[in-house]
Amino acid sequence: MSHFDAVADDFDRFRALPAGVPAAIRDAMWEALGLARGGRVLDLGAGTGRVGAAFVAAGDAYIAVDPSAGMLARFAEKAATQGGSAPSPALVQADGRALPFPGSAFDAVLLVQVLSGAPGWRSLLTEARRVLRPDGGLVLGKAIGPPEGVDARMRAQVSVILAELGADARPRGAQREEARAWLAPLARRMTEVTAARWQAARTPRDFLTRHATGARFAALPRPIQDEALRRLADWAVTTFGALDAPLIEPHAFVLDVCVF
Ligand SMILES: C[S@@+](CC[C@H](N)C(=O)[O-])C[C@H]1O[C@@H](n2cnc3c(N)ncnc32)[C@H](O)[C@@H]1O
Repeated sequence: MSHFDAVADDFDRFRALPAGVPAAIRDAMWEALGLARGGRVLDLGAGTGRVGAAFVAAGDAYIAVDPSAGMLARFAEKAATQGGSAPSPALVQADGRALPFPGSAFDAVLLVQVLSGAPGWRSLLTEARRVLRPDGGLVLGKAIGPPEGVDARMRAQVSVILAELGADARPRGAQREEARAWLAPLARRMTEVTAARWQAARTPRDFLTRHATGARFAALPRPIQDEALRRLADWAVTTFGALDAPLIEPHAFVLDVCVF
């Protein structure tokens, strides 16, 4: 059972991307790879299809892989409610560290916000490379807010609080820089592309609500979760003045595109 099963129903509610961003990610990916749209793309850690649905709608040869049955069930439900002539996504429940595909099966492998929470992230990247055809592209995607923004400061503070409470708050996977450093010596070409930019209103309360539905946090013992959120709310009131005061911040969706 994956930690993500327990939070699958809340994932889209708290982590939706603005309209048009998933389609912009798809466009930017094919453009950066210099490959014809419609090619074979593996969405590794596809989750609820927050990004992948745009590839399905556009008619790409798209396959989603995820170990979480709950996340994939949400993906399937959303596709079914669209009904009509919309194509159905190909969904495969599997661990990305042992992919059920032969070598060179895909033109592109997409990993969006997967590596930071994935133990064994090097095996995930090794498998992603194995299933890519020569000259195919591995694409790491991530939404980025300002380093001094509400989310970044709240995230740093919750790590401090969890350490104070004796909870294991170490990241399970790789941060973006670590993954890029691992890939750089293997890649023939590595480029960074900004697929979309938008302004977002952020409040400390939004962060508190969303963080409570994060897979890793939701797996902590309940008393630790409650105490961490209480301390974080107190800190946020002192730091930002109020829980509901919105700050308008620039956000962007960036892609690290690696060709091997
Ligand atoms: C934060 S979600 C992101 C989902 C989707 N890529 C998106 O951006 O909406 C992370 C996803 O990675 C998946 N994941 C975690 N470990 C994985 C692994 N070893 N292989 C494949 N997927 C994995 C989780 O099940 C979860 O659905």
